[in-house]
Amino acid sequence: MRVIAGRFGGRRLTAGVASVTRPTADRVREALGSVLESRGAFEGAAVLDLFAGTGALGIEALSRGAARLVAIDWDRRAIESVTENLRSLAATSEARVVRLDLLKSASRVISRLEALREGPFRLIFADPPYRELKALAPLLDQLAASKLCAPDALFVIEHAGTDALATLRKLVVVGRYSYGDSALTLLARSPQMGEGVVKSMATESSPAGSSKSERPEYAVSAAVYAGSFDPITNGHVAIIKSGLVAFERIIVAVLTNTAKKPMFTVEERMEMISDAVGGDPRVEVDRFDHGLLVNYAREKGVRIVLRGLRAVGDFEHELQMANMNRHLDPGIETVFIMANDWFYVSSTLIKEAAVLGGDLHGMVPELVEKKLREKFGR
Ligand code: PNS
Repeated sequence: MRVIAGRFGGRRLTAGVASVTRPTADRVREALGSVLESRGAFEGAAVLDLFAGTGALGIEALSRGAARLVAIDWDRRAIESVTENLRSLAATSEARVVRLDLLKSASRVISRLEALREGPFRLIFADPPYRELKALAPLLDQLAASKLCAPDALFVIEHAGTDALATLRKLVVVGRYSYGDSALTLLARSPQMGEGVVKSMATESSPAGSSKSERPEYAVSAAVYAGSFDPITNGHVAIIKSGLVAFERIIVAVLTNTAKKPMFTVEERMEMISDAVGGDPRVEVDRFDHGLLVNYAREKGVRIVLRGLRAVGDFEHELQMANMNRHLDPGIETVFIMANDWFYVSSTLIKEAAVLGGDLHGMVPELVEKKLREKFGR
């Protein structure tokens, strides 16, 4: 058995405990390596290898760019074997090998893992004895809910192709791969950033008229609607209104360091947005001063970027932005809402028409119309 790729690629591993641990077959490790590499799952990750056996899965991760490995097993021969493999690769300082019975009470296992002061883990392998698959569910759920697990953690469970995982409360299946008799199920944490929104809402002022006890206990769906809003148009307002059908909360974020030279100051733009939609307790008007939109969304505990689509002409640019944002942070997704009758209205055309004295009534909120009239004296 050899390490397949990365800095230890081709190096031999001892399968000393093969009779008791059933090491993951080379071709399964190879396929898994490609799947995880394409997801960027290894780079700098802390890896938790449960039922480590020879340690081949965790060592493969270290070889391909993981920063740290914690390998757990209960079998003494497995502990010896993984320790020996790490020693032969001179990788003992990057890893920790711990003897722990993972099939005992899940809470006790979690306490023991927390006491190691390692993690949070971004990649968690579990290759339990096939007959114990069902018994693993409470441990997986508790791990997913604990601080041991990074918000974007991926779980990789190896099991018999004929078996299915028990229903998990805290994890969702994001991939399943079959290789002969064995299968791999990939899982990701389910509530993720929704939890952050509930938490941040609990510390913020509640909607008018609602008391503390009336605050929602469910995960509030939220989206960031970012833009230059120079100025806000009724097209934007329509997207926000439609957005509130899909989301329970919308943060309208004004980009301040836009490459375009704005006509209105950020304060004026925020004032016009607040006047148009800020009366709705579900809408927060904020400014977005620097950095990436995905980072801003993450700071706000929101994982949806809301964009309006007016016409085919918008599509190409929006496609690029959505994919760029997805690349920058796969945990944040862009959702589009089709524009209504105001599909031909843009802030740029509004400004042009205003400068030339055009009648903008109905195309922009009242305060915007007033401010444009003041600015251009018509
Ligand atoms: O309404 P706009 O002016 O077209 O909005 C564009 C906006 C603010 C959504 C976009 O420029 C943006 O996201 N800027 C932040 C910088 C960033 O994250 N860039 C990388 C992703 S494209």
